[in-house]
Amino acid sequence: MNTYRVGIIGCGNIAGVHADGYQAVRNAKIEFVAGADLDPKGPGAQRLSEKYGIEVYGDYAEMLAKERLDLVSICTWPRTHCAATLAAAQHGVKGILCEKPMAVSLAEADQMIEACEKSGSTLIVGHVHRFSPQAVKARALVQQGEIGKLTLIWGHCALDLMNNGTHVIDLIGFLNGDAEPAWVMGQIDRRRHLEGRGNHPDMVMEDMAIGRVGYTNGVVGLIELGERADQAFAFKLVGTDGIIEVNRPDGPKLRLLSGFRQRGWYAPELPSIHSTFHSEIEELIEAIEGRATHRGNARNGRRALEIITGIFESSRIRAALDFPIAARDFVLERMIREGAV
Ligand SMILES: NC(=O)c1ccc[n+]([C@@H]2O[C@H](COP(=O)([O-])OP(=O)(O)OC[C@H]3O[C@@H](n4cnc5c(N)ncnc54)[C@H](O)[C@@H]3O)[C@@H](O)[C@H]2O)c1
Repeated sequence: MNTYRVGIIGCGNIAGVHADGYQAVRNAKIEFVAGADLDPKGPGAQRLSEKYGIEVYGDYAEMLAKERLDLVSICTWPRTHCAATLAAAQHGVKGILCEKPMAVSLAEADQMIEACEKSGSTLIVGHVHRFSPQAVKARALVQQGEIGKLTLIWGHCALDLMNNGTHVIDLIGFLNGDAEPAWVMGQIDRRRHLEGRGNHPDMVMEDMAIGRVGYTNGVVGLIELGERADQAFAFKLVGTDGIIEVNRPDGPKLRLLSGFRQRGWYAPELPSIHSTFHSEIEELIEAIEGRATHRGNARNGRRALEIITGIFESSRIRAALDFPIAARDFVLERMIREGAV
């Protein structure tokens, strides 16, 4: 079993969950050695330092230069994900777990992918819902033909596209077998001029968004996000012969109506998954050691960002767009600059 030296960049909320996730890994020996945060004396950094006895640097470049890390989690705010990933790749880090959203623009995402390909680093994006038992089961049920031919996946949650919206879009992709998108149409509302909300203090965001994505396999994805959507992540998969509901607020985490089985709604047994974050890291080890492709790999992360970029751009030009999406920048920011929203 190989030993991996671990560091975390950004020691806030989610960093604590990553740190616990590393401890539970069973396919490698983990040495959690350091963290880095703009505020190394802040409460998150102190918590990590006390719980794990690690040093917390004020500058991640110094940590990377001194600590010879094998695995790095990037748990900072979105606009820093690209620079931190490039720095980690440059220091030869073997596995980089970058939190969502992957980046704020496709130009940044491509730089990250290129740098990691060059350095031989395995880059994954923290779309951790791919490891939730209900998502894993729903995808398997579709692949087993339990609802006939999949035609539509609807997904929603209450936050914006670049925050939990990226989870919704990525999970629709996962449930759809990671098919490529062919076209996208979207609309956003930004009458509240939201900025710097919650754990995205460096971001601008929309109040509400809707998106319709046509995939090359014929499936349509419907995305409904923001103020008037429910807080909970919820998904509905419609097939020619049945329906799967994921995370119904008032029922089991997953229920299935299968015309094939003809026994009405029922809740299939879910696989036992110890913890999503720990499974995400174990699969990263598997990917580094060549035994698996990571389901949250950078290409899948980029695909979610490309759909988000397409929704913003479609809203800007008031028309559907074909893939690949040409816009390389953070389109929402451009729309705000140009007074479009
Ligand atoms: N996968 C998930 O389910 C999930 C859940 C929560 C948050 N997230 C993502 O994780 C990221 C962080 O969220 P959070 O809730 O932990 O936020 P947070 O504000 O609690 O923590 C972020 C930390 O990063 C530090 N930081 C920011 N820029 C830095 C830099 N350049 N160098 C060093 N440190 C820096 C801040 O000082 C802060 O301590 C966000 O992108 C968010 O979307 C993902």
